[in-house]
Amino acid sequence: MSKVATLEFDGKKYEFPITVGSEDEIGIDIKKLRAEAGLITLDPGFKNTGSCESAITFLDGEKGILRYRGYAIEDLAEKADFLEVVYLLIFGELPNKQQLDKFTADIKEESHVDEEMKKILDGFPKSAHPMGVLSSLTSALIAFNPSSVDVSSEEDMYNAIVKIIGKFPVLAAWTMRKKNSLPLNHGDDTLGYVENLHKMMFEKPGKSYKADKAVIDALDKLLILHADHEQNCSTSTVRMVGSSHAGLFASISAGISALWGPLHGGANQAVIEMLEGIKKDGGDTHKFMQKAKDKDDPFRLMGFGHRVYKNFDPRAKIIKKSADEVLGQLGVEDPVLDIAKGLEKEALEDDYFVKRKLYPNVDFYSGIIYRALGIPVEMFTVMFALGRLPGWIAQWREMRLRKEPIGRPRQIYTGENHRDFKPLGSR
Ligand code: CMC
Repeated sequence: MSKVATLEFDGKKYEFPITVGSEDEIGIDIKKLRAEAGLITLDPGFKNTGSCESAITFLDGEKGILRYRGYAIEDLAEKADFLEVVYLLIFGELPNKQQLDKFTADIKEESHVDEEMKKILDGFPKSAHPMGVLSSLTSALIAFNPSSVDVSSEEDMYNAIVKIIGKFPVLAAWTMRKKNSLPLNHGDDTLGYVENLHKMMFEKPGKSYKADKAVIDALDKLLILHADHEQNCSTSTVRMVGSSHAGLFASISAGISALWGPLHGGANQAVIEMLEGIKKDGGDTHKFMQKAKDKDDPFRLMGFGHRVYKNFDPRAKIIKKSADEVLGQLGVEDPVLDIAKGLEKEALEDDYFVKRKLYPNVDFYSGIIYRALGIPVEMFTVMFALGRLPGWIAQWREMRLRKEPIGRPRQIYTGENHRDFKPLGSR
C-alpha cells in the first residue's frame, strides 16, 4: 500500500502521509494541508473526518463489530459487570481482583453529594426534563469540588474520576425522585454499584428496599452496552470541551446536553413515544413505514439508522434478545414490543430501508426494557448517560494524556463581502 496520498490542485502536486490504524482503517494525515496547499477540507457532520487517534473503542460499521479495548461487546455484556467495564475503558485493561476491590471502595467513598446540592435541585420546576437537570447538577458539582485536576498527575486524575463515578448516580437518581415527589436519599455502602443506583432511584419512604436480581442484571447489561461508542456526538463534545482545558465535570455536563437530542441518546425516549403513538393510532405499522419514507413528512423511524453501522448494530441484537428475556422473567406483557418487532420486520424487507442500510440501533429496544423495569420515559436518556459516563471519562482522559490541541474547526465563509456601515436613519 502506498504510504502517501497525492493531491493535485491548480497544477501542483502535494503528498500527504497515510496513517493506518491497528484494525487497518486508513486515513490521510492532512495536518499540513492548509500550510502547504492553502486548502481546507469541507465535511459537514464530520462524515469522513477522523478527529483523533484513539485506542479505546473499535467499531466496524460494515461488519457490525463493537469492541472495548479489544474485547467483543458480546463477551463483555455476558461475562463482565459494569464496574469492570468502566475500569477497562478508562485504564485500558480488565482489573484484577485487588484493583477492582480498590476501585469499588474508592467509588463508594465518593458516593454522596453535598447537602447544598439539594437547594439547587429544589430550584427546578417539577416539569423540568431530567436531562437538563442532570447536566446542570453535574456542572454545579464543580462549585463543590473546585480544585482543578492536574492532568500530569495520575493520582489527581484518578481522584477526579472516582469522584464523578461515585456522585453521578446520586444526581441521576435525584432527578427522578424530584419528578416523582420522593424525598432525596443517599445510597447504601453494602450494595454493588448498579444495585445501589437502583435503590436510590426506587426506594420508597418507610418501605424496606429489595431488588430483583433479574432487574439488576438487566440494568447492568444495558449500562455496559451503552458504555462507549468512539467519536459519537456527545463524546466528541466531551473531547472538544475538554480540549480547551475545561475540567472533567464541565466537559461531561456538555456531553449530557449533546446526548439529550433525539437524533442521539434522546432517541430512546422518542422511540417509545413513537411506538405508543402507533399503538394509539390503531397499530398500523405499514402506515408509519410510509410516513418514514415520505420525504415531505418529517416523521423518521426513531431507533433506526446509524451514522456508522451500515449493518446490524450489535448492541441492538443483544438488547432485542434481552428484552424478550427480561419481559419474560418479570412477567410483563408489553404490546409495543410486538409493534416494534413488526416495524423491524417490515423495515428489513423494505427497499427504502435496505438500500439505505437502515437497521435498528441501540435505542430501538432499550426503552421497552427500561419501561419493564419501571423507569419513567423521561428518564431513559438519563439511563443512557449513566452508561456512557465511563466512555466520556476514558475519552477525556485519553485526549488530555495525548496533549491534543484545542478543537477548532475551520469553515468556508459564504456570507457578505465587506460593505460600508449604514447609519440607523438610512437603513
Ligand atoms: N427513518 C427514515 N429515514 C431515515 C432514517 C430513519 N430513522 N435514518 C436515516 N434515514 C434516511 C435519510 O432520510 C437519508 O435518506 P436520503 O439518502 O434519501 O436523503 C438516508 O437515510 C441517510 O440518512 P442520514 O440522515 O443522512 O444519515 P446520518 O448518518 O446523517 O444520520 C441518524 C444517522 C442516526 C441521525 C439517522 O439515521 C436518524 O435520524 N435516525 C433516527 C434517530 C435515531 O434512532 N438515533 C439514534 C442513533 S444510535 C444511538 C446514538 O447515537 O445515541
